[in-house]
Amino acid sequence: MQVDLRILRYDPERDGKPHWEAYTVEARPIERVLDLLHKVKYEQDGTLTFRRSCAHGVCGSDAMLINGRNRLACRIRVDQLGKGRITVAPLPGLPVVKDLVVDMDGFFEKYKSAMPYFVADSTPPPERERRQSPEDRARYDDTTKCILCAACTSSCPSFWAQPSYVGPAAIVNAHRFIFDSRDEAAEERLENLRYKTQIKTLQRRLREAVDSGDGEQIAAAQPDLNADRKQQVQSANEKFKSQFQSIVTGVGTSLSISGAQAQIKDALQKLGSAYQSSFAKVDCGG
Ligand code: SF4
Ligand code: FES
Repeated sequence: MQVDLRILRYDPERDGKPHWEAYTVEARPIERVLDLLHKVKYEQDGTLTFRRSCAHGVCGSDAMLINGRNRLACRIRVDQLGKGRITVAPLPGLPVVKDLVVDMDGFFEKYKSAMPYFVADSTPPPERERRQSPEDRARYDDTTKCILCAACTSSCPSFWAQPSYVGPAAIVNAHRFIFDSRDEAAEERLENLRYKTQIKTLQRRLREAVDSGDGEQIAAAQPDLNADRKQQVQSANEKFKSQFQSIVTGVGTSLSISGAQAQIKDALQKLGSAYQSSFAKVDCGG
């Protein structure tokens, strides 16, 4: 079959702005969009630029906007995209370097702010490996599967609108370590992710919970977890505690700050589940 393929092209050395170019490609229904891109590059226009490495949904390097949705080009087949034209554009919300290649530096900086590594400085290392029960391991199993393709983060309007927002991929990777029973830096990660808007969100959720008399809503409060610059962490945290305390005192509940911290952790757990279901919409490899 012949596929009508449109690719958003941009060469900063030649083009004033991105523009669509059309290609007709011979393909079988089971071939993937990555195969179409290879055919264009090898047979029609060698200047077409895109990233890919594993070609099997493992490395995360070929996330693109395909037919209006962020997907991995190596995972989506021609027959899954219907009979019409196939459009391919770079991931939204990230600076375009050339054609389908975007600058991922900002994405990885935010990923790093989630401290995506194991921390256990206060306990001496055991003689053999640090043991963990299957149940404890299962708590964060889903969030180990992220391949850092940026499909989720670059499809998030909050990420486009608010430069300080870390985005879903960083939160997923924070979740991976916060709920690891061997890790000791959960509080530090929570502080790094916390931002002023979280206070407002939590305030609003608390008021709603108090108004409705439904304590469950407090636990369901999902703080807006945004990146915080280091110098702001301390004051934001203090402000959070005092505002939370004043709300708690004002409504006469028996919640404590440590209880609030536990609830934020609980909310993060729920946030992980919420993001997992939203990831289904971006066809990530993880
Ligand atoms: S969570 Fe999924 S969509 Fe987001 S970066 Fe990781 S693999 Fe990609
Ligand atoms: S090329 Fe590695 S995930 Fe697609």
